[in-house]
Amino acid sequence: MVERKFIKSDPYEYIVEFNQKLKSGGLLLVSEGSDKKPNAMTIGWGFIGTMWSLPVIVVAVRHSRHTFKLLEDSKVFTVCMPSKDMSNVLDVCGTKSGRTVDKFKELNLTAKKSMFLNSTYIEECPIFFECSIIYKVDVTDGVFDSLLNEKIYKTKDFHKLYFGEIKGTYSVDDYSS
Ligand SMILES: Cc1cc2nc3c(=O)[nH]c(=O)nc-3n(C[C@H](O)[C@H](O)[C@H](O)COP(=O)(O)O)c2cc1C
Repeated sequence: MVERKFIKSDPYEYIVEFNQKLKSGGLLLVSEGSDKKPNAMTIGWGFIGTMWSLPVIVVAVRHSRHTFKLLEDSKVFTVCMPSKDMSNVLDVCGTKSGRTVDKFKELNLTAKKSMFLNSTYIEECPIFFECSIIYKVDVTDGVFDSLLNEKIYKTKDFHKLYFGEIKGTYSVDDYSS
């Protein structure tokens, strides 16, 4: 792919698109462990906002995911916003595991080093956020509304919440939604 030019944006500039994508199709969470092999996973839950006076993205990752292992081994991640024509990427990254498949290779995605952090973004995505993990906490048993317990955590495959300070938000210079 021809190298794209990204420009730095305000962390809150794409908050509407961020939420729309979470609701319809998902976003791509990219992480890597000590082997430096990036892996992308589709996410449908998370949020962007302010915490400790910092711009943050919170992602929710179940313990069973390969991404969970990678994030436990890392201090950074990126959240990449796919374009409309990337629904196949969202399908594959939301159903196959990086444990058994190199999703970047299978999908012909271009892994690029982030601008500020030692994280990786997907060049085919028009917007990405590079985040530094500043806090993480397990969603634990016993403090939920019973409905949540039955519907979401029946198998006890709990999420961990990762709070990433947004260190950089970048969009392609010709971005249009
Ligand atoms: C639309 C969609 C949204 C998803 N959202 C999440 C999520 O927010 N958190 C999560 O742990 N898994 C989520 N998943 C499931 C993972 O993307 C899926 O299990 C994936 O294969 C895990 O990849 P990995 O093992 O390489 O980490 C979602 C899947 C889809 C299709």
